[in-house]
Amino acid sequence: MPISLKAIFVLTMVGTSGMALIQADNCAPSESCLATNRMTFPWRSARLPSFIVPEHYHLNIHVDFATQTFKGQVKILIAVMKCSRFIVLHSKNLNICEAFLEAIHTQKNISLQVLQAPNNEQVAFISNTSLEAGRKYDLTIGYTAPLSTSFSGFYKVFYTTKSGAQRMLAATHFEPTSARKAFPCFDEPHMKALFSVTVVHSQQNYAISNMPMRTSLLRADGLVEDRFLHSLKMSSYLVAFVVSDFTSRSAMSTRGVKVSVFAPGEQISQTEHALHIGVKILEFFEEYFQIPYPISKLDLVAIPDFESGAMENWGLITFRETSLLYDPETSTGLNKIWVTLVTAHEIAHQWFGNLVTMAWWNDIWLNEGFASYMEFVATNHLKPEWSVEDQFLINNFFRALKQDSFDTSHQISLPVTSSTQIRQMFDVISYSKSALQAGRMTDVKKIMSTWTMQKGYPLVSLRRNGGKLFITQNVFTLHVSEKSSFLWQIPFTFYTSNSSTVRSLLLIKKEVSIDLPKEVLWIKANVNCTGFYRVAYDLQMFHMIIHQLRESDLVFSSNDRANLIDDSFNLASQGTLKYNEAFSISLYLWKEKEYLPIRMYAIHMVHMLKRFAFSGDWCSFHLIKTHMLVMLGELMSTQRWDDSGTMPQQNLRVLLLSMATGYKQLPATHRAQDLFYRWMESDGKTWLPRNLRGLLFRVGVRNGGDEEWRFLLKKYMESTSSTDKLSILQALCRTRSTAKKLWLLKTSLLNHVIKTQDFGTIIRQLASSPNNNRVVWKFVQHNWDKLTTK
Ligand code: BES
Ligand code: ZN
Repeated sequence: MPISLKAIFVLTMVGTSGMALIQADNCAPSESCLATNRMTFPWRSARLPSFIVPEHYHLNIHVDFATQTFKGQVKILIAVMKCSRFIVLHSKNLNICEAFLEAIHTQKNISLQVLQAPNNEQVAFISNTSLEAGRKYDLTIGYTAPLSTSFSGFYKVFYTTKSGAQRMLAATHFEPTSARKAFPCFDEPHMKALFSVTVVHSQQNYAISNMPMRTSLLRADGLVEDRFLHSLKMSSYLVAFVVSDFTSRSAMSTRGVKVSVFAPGEQISQTEHALHIGVKILEFFEEYFQIPYPISKLDLVAIPDFESGAMENWGLITFRETSLLYDPETSTGLNKIWVTLVTAHEIAHQWFGNLVTMAWWNDIWLNEGFASYMEFVATNHLKPEWSVEDQFLINNFFRALKQDSFDTSHQISLPVTSSTQIRQMFDVISYSKSALQAGRMTDVKKIMSTWTMQKGYPLVSLRRNGGKLFITQNVFTLHVSEKSSFLWQIPFTFYTSNSSTVRSLLLIKKEVSIDLPKEVLWIKANVNCTGFYRVAYDLQMFHMIIHQLRESDLVFSSNDRANLIDDSFNLASQGTLKYNEAFSISLYLWKEKEYLPIRMYAIHMVHMLKRFAFSGDWCSFHLIKTHMLVMLGELMSTQRWDDSGTMPQQNLRVLLLSMATGYKQLPATHRAQDLFYRWMESDGKTWLPRNLRGLLFRVGVRNGGDEEWRFLLKKYMESTSSTDKLSILQALCRTRSTAKKLWLLKTSLLNHVIKTQDFGTIIRQLASSPNNNRVVWKFVQHNWDKLTTK
């Protein structure tokens, strides 16, 4: 899910009056239907009229790095379905200087009047004569605009080379509603058309776009004109072009698709993993979908300043550096998993999203849910030894259950019209809850609709009475008082203390009962977390489960152990279960060896630690901390301080040692300090285990002072590894000095030394500590305008 500055700040302001960003679906009858020149704008709705359909865009973009502006000309072949005197399309922040229409059947030019309606991000072209139904016209529009300073539209990006030289590039990011910031267009996903892109630029740079290049011409004025082949029929939000001086590496897929990875020259050695895995993923999906990828090339580009994680533009996927580049020397196992998942996610979109597209943004979950599911299918297929199912459950299952229990949640499919509402659709619900639904698309439509058309999810309560088991469903919310009549169709699965055979039934009523043999001591429901619901066991069964965990925990799979922990602590925080009961289920953890249950336990402990720290209840804080160090202490002290082991073992090690040093378990802290200082004394030349670099940097800052911090800042500036830079930056945020915290925030907003894309990381990192409340909040208040316009 994208992490955006706007999402952090602007969206929290919905409801504030006077915000130009927040607009009604239709403009109000009086003022807002006037165009900027105060003439009446011919269209009221934020949605475009359906009687004019775009068929083919010829887009010519001339970018000038010296003035940081671009000139555009777009010629759109349109088909008129219903006689009309006006054409409405989207346009935002463009200075339109010419517009004319040519009727294809008469070849006559028709002059047009231009009206703008910035509230709906629309422009209208009015002709003196009516356009005839059934005819086609070429609409030509000339315009200019500055390269955008935000992260969307056609925007400029600065980056610094190792020698300190400043470089610039220009890239696009359009989804969901920013194509209109680069060229006037019918910016709605169902209005698909062909695109023929031409980019004019200086000789120092080169251009890439969705399609392979057709011709590249050195013009008499010394500029280069690159023409690209026309695209397939596609939505405007998928159009892309990048003008840069990057280096690239390529490889061929078995079917002959040329896959290339682009990055700044100094980082090209970090593209090997993405190139290798990119080819494999492409081949996997071609086989899986049984539809060949329809373009002869696929470009993957690392953009040095990028708001979200990655974007699936057809044939030209753009990434944040940390989502594409992998440095074998300094990146962690988790970095490698992340690069693979993101690449698979965006390549899955080449089919799901690009080839097949939702008609409107209310159904963005079809795009994102499916890609969020397929990224795991592909990764699991290519790297079974990574156990990415654990990551799937953490990223999607547990996360969606949490998010969807808040009052502020919403149903998966939601009516939206304005750009602001559309942007809000890209959230945990559309990604994670939908990913879980995508996993079982094979279910009948009726079952699906109870999950997609209503928000929230059920709590299934189990009550034993003699030979009967009563199964009841209720909505699960964090406020128990809320009663609702929602009913779900729940694929309910379980096994019992007597038989590991999984039984299943579809719950469709509020309450059902089934027979259960007397000898059964407990049942475990929602086997392996395959259903999107929580389970509450009656206390007697709950105690039997606890007993079983202590006797022999391996009767339950690691998914099930994690599920028991997660459900228990969530029921406790909701008040249905006493906290001492939840803690007693966690008491078996001293013998737990697997990543997922430990991670689940850690998530809940850390959450509580934060709450106590924020409320200043240090007594409870220390109790929880001690609980954690007692439960996991032995496993912590047996960890090796290297990169050995399987991927899950490495991930477990990072988790345990981060907690051990974070909560100052002494042997671990000493060991870490020792490693850190040896590294510092060698000016960063001694080798550090790549998985442990981040935690060692944090120990260095937390337990050190000015000297350690400055040393790490120097390493930050020298490093060309974006993943290592990220770990250093996160460590720098752990400083106790207010001046240093402010410096980090300010510097990143200036986009100097620290990129603005990392502002979100800094804020999140600082805000996670109670000491930083005031600093962060004051900074945000003082810089409100800057933050909301970026
Ligand atoms: N289509 C999205 C990118 C996007 C999101 C554009 C929101 C505009 C608004 C892309 O496929 C995506 O989902 N990216 C994720 C990373 C992914 C691996 C989950 C992101 O950017 O966080
Ligand atoms: Zn996506």
